[in-house]
Amino acid sequence: MRIFSGIQPTGAKHLGNYIGAIRQYVEGQDRGEPAIYCIVDLHAITVPYEPARLRERVLDTTALLLAAGLEPERCVLFRQGDVPEHTELSWLLTSVTATGELNRMHQFRDKSAAQRELISAGLLFYPVLQAADVLAYRAHEVPVGEDQREHLELMRDVARRFNARFGEGLLVVPEHRIPAVGARIMDLQDPARKMSTSGGSVEGTVYVLDGPEAIEKKLRRAVTDSEDPFAIRRDPAAKPGVTNLIDITAAARGVDGDVVLAELAGARGYGDLKLAASRAIVTLLAPVRERYAGLRSDETYLDAVLEQGAAKAQALAAPVLADVRAAMGVGSGR
Ligand code: TYM
Repeated sequence: MRIFSGIQPTGAKHLGNYIGAIRQYVEGQDRGEPAIYCIVDLHAITVPYEPARLRERVLDTTALLLAAGLEPERCVLFRQGDVPEHTELSWLLTSVTATGELNRMHQFRDKSAAQRELISAGLLFYPVLQAADVLAYRAHEVPVGEDQREHLELMRDVARRFNARFGEGLLVVPEHRIPAVGARIMDLQDPARKMSTSGGSVEGTVYVLDGPEAIEKKLRRAVTDSEDPFAIRRDPAAKPGVTNLIDITAAARGVDGDVVLAELAGARGYGDLKLAASRAIVTLLAPVRERYAGLRSDETYLDAVLEQGAAKAQALAAPVLADVRAAMGVGSGR
């Protein structure tokens, strides 16, 4: 079972990234043959960004992933921009991608609506590069949060169309792996929208590197509702804030939502739910934050991890690209 996933180097990683994706990466290390994790700097340039800070951000994300439990001996961890097979395959896949499909992607619509100056062609082609990321390794499984479902569907369509056009079995049609609980962690201040680095509020976003006080404060202020506070129950439509807190607590502790609800049967109000959530989050994130500082300060080590990861990744992707080029008839064929 080959596993692949990608993560953006932009901004501070949050609880949604951690529960929805990063935790699955760590778990996948022993199942993956191998498990391949990519920090997608080329995706980060599709919206306005600061070139001088991009490499810093990549190192931040590398240290965070290592602090979360990735081990360079047990997985392949690398930077997308170090392996040119991704960009090459991305171009080759455009020949079997419909622009109509790209125009319909929710993330493209949301992100392009948020741009004030330039809507880059890169933003439109973002999902094609994402498809190339996975397909270049013939990966079977892609651990992601719920918000990537649409990109995964497109990726599967592209792979099927490519195989139908150029030869069955050339590319693997991958499956997504979306966690049962915590696939879509919502903003604490606005539980109708997902927790996110770009669109959300700082007060409503728990960062992986937040200390216990910051976490407790954000949870104390989390938006709930004005229904009878003794009615703590899961109801995503009517009680999105409370449901989010129940799901976060359950996901952070790795238990079922019913377990959390049973423990809160004698609760005196939403305050008890918020306390249970903040305790669960602090327990989950404190070890990551503690390991992060030591790792982040050793840039020589982080660079070496990424360099070795890129060499391993390229060795896996190059033969796939050779097959694709041959099947498509591009290049000299030598
Ligand atoms: P990114 O960096 O935005 O997010 C990384 C992962 O975190 C998940 N996630 C969430 N999960 C639960 N609740 C949330 N509120 C939440 N917010 C984010 C995302 O689903 C993702 O799994 N396009 C991708 C990066 C990418 C990629 C790939 C992923 C590039 N190439 C190939 C898989 C395979 C992205 O922007 O992730």
